[in-house]
Amino acid sequence: MNPQDVLADLERRAELGGGEARRRRQHEAGKLTARERIDLLFDPGTFEELDKLVVHRCLDFGMADQQIPGDGVVAGHGLVNGRQVCAFAQDFTVFGGSLSETNAAKIVKIMDMAMRVGAPIVGLNDSGGARIQEGVLSLGGYADIFLRNTLASGVVPQISAIMGPCAGGAVYSPAITDFNVMVKDTSYMFVTGPDVIRTVTHEEVTKEELGGAMTHNETSGVAHFAVEDDRECLLLIRDLLGFLPSNNLDDPPVVECTDPVDREDEALDRLVPASPNQPYDILDLIHTVADDGYFLEVHRHYAKNIVVGFARLGGRPVGIVANQPAHLAGTLDIDASVKGARFVRFCDAFNIPLVTIEDVPGFLPGTVQEYGGIIRHGAKLLYAFAEATVPKVTVITRKAYGGAYCVMASKHIRTDFNYAWPTAEIAVMGPDGAVNILYKRELDAAADPAALRAEKVAEFREKFANPYVAAGRGFIDEVIAPRRTRAKLVNALKNLETKRDRNPPKKHGNIPL
Ligand code: HXC
Repeated sequence: MNPQDVLADLERRAELGGGEARRRRQHEAGKLTARERIDLLFDPGTFEELDKLVVHRCLDFGMADQQIPGDGVVAGHGLVNGRQVCAFAQDFTVFGGSLSETNAAKIVKIMDMAMRVGAPIVGLNDSGGARIQEGVLSLGGYADIFLRNTLASGVVPQISAIMGPCAGGAVYSPAITDFNVMVKDTSYMFVTGPDVIRTVTHEEVTKEELGGAMTHNETSGVAHFAVEDDRECLLLIRDLLGFLPSNNLDDPPVVECTDPVDREDEALDRLVPASPNQPYDILDLIHTVADDGYFLEVHRHYAKNIVVGFARLGGRPVGIVANQPAHLAGTLDIDASVKGARFVRFCDAFNIPLVTIEDVPGFLPGTVQEYGGIIRHGAKLLYAFAEATVPKVTVITRKAYGGAYCVMASKHIRTDFNYAWPTAEIAVMGPDGAVNILYKRELDAAADPAALRAEKVAEFREKFANPYVAAGRGFIDEVIAPRRTRAKLVNALKNLETKRDRNPPKKHGNIPL
């Protein structure tokens, strides 16, 4: 063969992966192949593959004569919406996408390159785990990847897609990355599978129940997004990358904004119901103020009492953290605190301004929460907001009670602009709770306790359940008309564009994990 033909033959074999039959099985399982996925992730024609001709070095178990160029992972770099991104895609058609010494080295190489050039890393996972024939060499490969994931954390955004099996220690690479997207029905993640669980704990559980997309989106919180199929997964990752800077020294990408920045919406003036105990959907407010009403919600199915996600205001990406009165009255519990804290830290690491929308009656009471360590977990959210040096803007729509007032990006923990709607109630606790404590003796002795309670509640509400005591102290910078919220936020963020703030020098803090 002439040299051109040798190369063409090697490339053809690499592109064929595990062969036609296995590619067909992949499609029959509802999955795309590694190369089809890469094609959908990157702008057409921009992907440059590295190590396409790498082969494994295993001689045992008849492996010497089963060498497929590329060795089960497609790795390289290209453009996503015109910006550089590094990626790898495990190829399930080659030894089940299992991780060998050499394909781990390919992943490590592209991760190292991402760190050097400051580009996000996207990992498309679809693998039977450690290449069984290679033993500890494979385990070493995993550890090499885990180390890179850790070192890259906070330096370049890392996104994992789970598009097939991801089991055993292999789960710890996605776990360290910033976002996990899981494809419904075809993906699962677990540390030990149903068979081991049956033997050890005698529990009967299916793969889907144990580690399917909805389990990790709704129950464990391990995954941040659930999508219907591979195509939606890759489009979502492209969308998500559009909100993120390429690295921690970069600013998030600004897009042209055609939505009027001073757009007002009268409906916001009526959003907060007359009764303080009546819920409303905080997403209505987020959609109303965001550019073009677009909000990319993160962790949508998990800890619904707090809403987090990305939007643009005047073309600039922001991270939004909002209490959700429509779920558990918007209280903060363990899951909501951890969800919020991780999102806040991601935004702070990557220079994404934080907009906090607050309507929180406090931390969720109960033994489940206390025994579960709400003190430690709630502290994470406080710590995350307090250490964040990115531009921070808060809007209190209704309740800001007790410790939760302090935690939710209050003025006292370095928030730049704190706004409140006229309906805000900023107090140590709600009027009912306050009256029960302050007037316990009088209520016990009263001839008509209900009448006395109503009178005292009205008095407390009049005096404290408003934004004006806080505004009188400067803890609230301005009480704003709800309809003006978008204009206020856009302007605040514009003013904060040049913000510089820093924390004291240290190796790293000790967030209460
Ligand atoms: C080598 C593997 C493999 C592996 C699958 N294959 N997993 N080859 N090492 N780990 C091969 C199969 O032999 C098969 O080859 C092809 O991939 C497809 O596998 P099937 O079993 O036919 O596919 P399917 O029925 O879809 O089942 C997929 C699976 C199953 C559930 C992933 O293959 C499986 O249980 N694999 C073993 C998983 C495992 O125990 N891995 C080690 C876990 S420990 P042919 O030639 O027939 O196509 C681990 C530790 C990581 O990963 C530690 C990190 C610190």
